[in-house]
Amino acid sequence: MFFLPAIAGERNRISKNAYNDNGETVHYQEVRRLEQIVINGGTPLQGSVRIHGAKNAVLPILAATVLADGVHTVKNCPRLSDVSITEEILKSLGAKTVRREDALVVDATGETGSFIPEKLMRKLRSSVVFMGAVLAKTGRVKISAPGGCELGPRPIDLHLKALSLLGAEIYEEHGYLELYAKRLTGCHIHLDFPSVGATENVMLAGVLAEGETVITNAAREPEICDLANFLNACGARVSGAGTSSIRIEGVRTLHPASYTVMPDRIAATTYLCAAAATGGEVTVTHMEPEHISAVLSVLSDCGCDITCGKNTVHLKAPEKLSACGAIRTMPYPGFPTDAQSLMLATLCVARGTGLITETIFESRFKPVPELSRMGAKISVSDRVAVIRGVDALWGAEVCAEDLRGGAALVIAGLCARGKTVIHNPCFLDRGYEALEENLAALGADIKRYR
Ligand code: EPZ
Repeated sequence: MFFLPAIAGERNRISKNAYNDNGETVHYQEVRRLEQIVINGGTPLQGSVRIHGAKNAVLPILAATVLADGVHTVKNCPRLSDVSITEEILKSLGAKTVRREDALVVDATGETGSFIPEKLMRKLRSSVVFMGAVLAKTGRVKISAPGGCELGPRPIDLHLKALSLLGAEIYEEHGYLELYAKRLTGCHIHLDFPSVGATENVMLAGVLAEGETVITNAAREPEICDLANFLNACGARVSGAGTSSIRIEGVRTLHPASYTVMPDRIAATTYLCAAAATGGEVTVTHMEPEHISAVLSVLSDCGCDITCGKNTVHLKAPEKLSACGAIRTMPYPGFPTDAQSLMLATLCVARGTGLITETIFESRFKPVPELSRMGAKISVSDRVAVIRGVDALWGAEVCAEDLRGGAALVIAGLCARGKTVIHNPCFLDRGYEALEENLAALGADIKRYR
């Protein structure tokens, strides 16, 4: 199985680089497409879909398992490639993992390693939160810069500044970071930006620190609350998660826990946008409606009839969507950046002109050239996309280049007339469990060819 990053615009060449399962670069001059998703669009989605556990909650929670000796049970753990890579990282640190139905059992008993191989670090962004956890547990950690979807530069300066304030000595050479601290000392940390990852790293480092750590301007995402709930289930003392000010009272040791991960709010958003774009009627279950209030407000403004239950959202799309007012991505509880590409695709077939400003990442309009091949009328200037709605999109051959951009292409393919072929569907596997199967169960004509 190869990992082939696409270069949009080179139809018969996937890429001059490819990576094999060991994460090594394999140069290609001409590569036949290895995997593709084929969609024959135009069917309004109908039915209900159950939401899996949240990728962006389970990844830091799995990193947190190294903090406590013993056997953790992480329930509602989604089957995603990012989770598999995180399991590899855990094993490289000496832990054992085994899948038990919807749970992942992690045995973190015994000596915890302090070095994470570069080939694993490069494979996903959330590997960076192992830094705080491993440093807190072992007093040292050696990692390379993390990987993840290419959304523009993704520095970790906020992470490193915070860990340095907690007392870590930080050395950088040959592309590796080495951090040392006999025992971290709690302090007040103000984040210049409410970074999700930096907030998580400080929480993971602070739970075993000497004294109290207070994070101000902390990220308020629901995934932060889930991590805090898991840590407290392990005996930590974290309060204020979900607000801008989080307080962590350091303890000497933690114990393993059994915990159920929150539902994936971006997966829920994906199915709702697909229902809206195809003019369908779908109920999303096993989710938390209040986690996506900003998204539901926009979909309602676009003309969708939305009914929320305790753990469900029912959406009935209008005959034709209407472009809503300007959308700006913001830290939670604002409109989530991870929903930006999904909304971009949905607005392509809305009446009127939509406007989306991406304030979180520098380069998160990657699906635009691919959507344009499908007939979308989108113009991008810096961080602003203007979407002129068209009657209909047409099917085309397109390439996914990141997780949510790939999901946007799926949404476009579902509402397009004719056949769409999506290359590099491996990006989708990072964050969606059984995407094609779930969409097919909602009536879509979608299939993956290997
Ligand atoms: C998390 O990424 C999520 N990933 C992202 O989801 C999500 O888009 C993002 O939070 C924002 O909500 C995971 O949880 C695994 P940030 P993260 O630190 O932690 C800048 C998906 O599709 N920044 O909040 O990397 C950064 O460059 C993924 O599921 C610094 O400048 O996001 C970005 O512009 C994509 N210095 C902004 O802050 C730092 O030290 C937000 O980054 C850290 C971040």
